[in-house]
Amino acid sequence: MKTRITELFGIEHPIIQGGMHFVGFAEMAAAVSNAGGLGIITGLTQRTPDDLAAEIARCRAMTDKPFGVNLTFLPSLATPDYPGYIKAIIDGGVKAVETAGNNPAKWLPAMKEAGIKVIHKCTSVRHSLKAESIGCDAVSVDGFECGGHPGEDDVPNFILLPRAAEELTIPFVASGGVANGKQLVAALAMGAEGINMGTRFIATVEAPVHDNVKQAILNASELDTRLVMRPLRNTERVLNNPAVERLLAKEKELGAAIKFEDIIEEVAGVYPKIMKDGTMEAGAWSCGMVVGLIHDIPTCKDLIDGIMAEAHAIITGRLARFAA
Ligand SMILES: Cc1cc2nc3c(=O)[nH]c(=O)nc-3n(C[C@H](O)[C@H](O)[C@H](O)COP(=O)(O)O)c2cc1C
Repeated sequence: MKTRITELFGIEHPIIQGGMHFVGFAEMAAAVSNAGGLGIITGLTQRTPDDLAAEIARCRAMTDKPFGVNLTFLPSLATPDYPGYIKAIIDGGVKAVETAGNNPAKWLPAMKEAGIKVIHKCTSVRHSLKAESIGCDAVSVDGFECGGHPGEDDVPNFILLPRAAEELTIPFVASGGVANGKQLVAALAMGAEGINMGTRFIATVEAPVHDNVKQAILNASELDTRLVMRPLRNTERVLNNPAVERLLAKEKELGAAIKFEDIIEEVAGVYPKIMKDGTMEAGAWSCGMVVGLIHDIPTCKDLIDGIMAEAHAIITGRLARFAA
């Protein structure tokens, strides 16, 4: 299937693996890229630009296909060395970058000059248009159902994607809530040129996370995510657990007076404990409503091949019948 996204990134299938903190290591990105999608290393999971350079080199040793790096600009306790990370990306010969969290305008000229294609992740039409106007090559339109940070507008993809199609000229992919071929076809029908998946890729053989995380995804339903940090305007969709319930109780109790320090125990430094050690109740970790659609742990190749086969069967079978 050729789309503007497969052409832009030089990939076989219009499927991207979104950056994921403490999941997007070289193993994850290489497995997705080897399966014909676009794998993404999560830049800030690497503690320093040198570590990112080493991770890029590790990924390159595992795949000769294109892969990308995610750079996230979100509120954090200490500002990361973004110029250093960008230098590591450029020097590492990476040609695709997924930016997220904040306007990447400041960093675009250096990346463009190095021939890097930039896909910016946005949760609204107005941010998507901004990304287009500053020169991003594509947008990942992240609906309210997504795992991670859905923004503050709460517009789900059934509305957000066709709205993006009304306004955007650059290509976009559907992100948030996607796990199967039916949804790829629906995304294409609504104007997207492909899909971006996060949560679905965690429940794969190659995802370099503790088995407890994969089992938690299999055991969860679409009713099991919660939105945290809304009072801080840093909303995150996470899988419910006792730490999340504690956090939500604090939000209720403290109301508008809540500060980041009040919830630091439930959110700071949680990812290595969850993803590496499998201590599932250590805190709040991003997870999408799409868990309700995840019932197995395939290899990335079987997952991607299955999605493409299902999409093809729907387009040539069920949908073709409606056009007859
Ligand atoms: C565990 C986890 C960690 C994530 N970390 C990041 C991150 O560091 N930066 C980022 O831009 N997006 C992050 N995301 C969001 C994903 O890249 C993607 O946009 C989102 O998962 C799509 O929604 P889905 O989970 O319904 O597929 C994360 C998502 C998950 C599930």
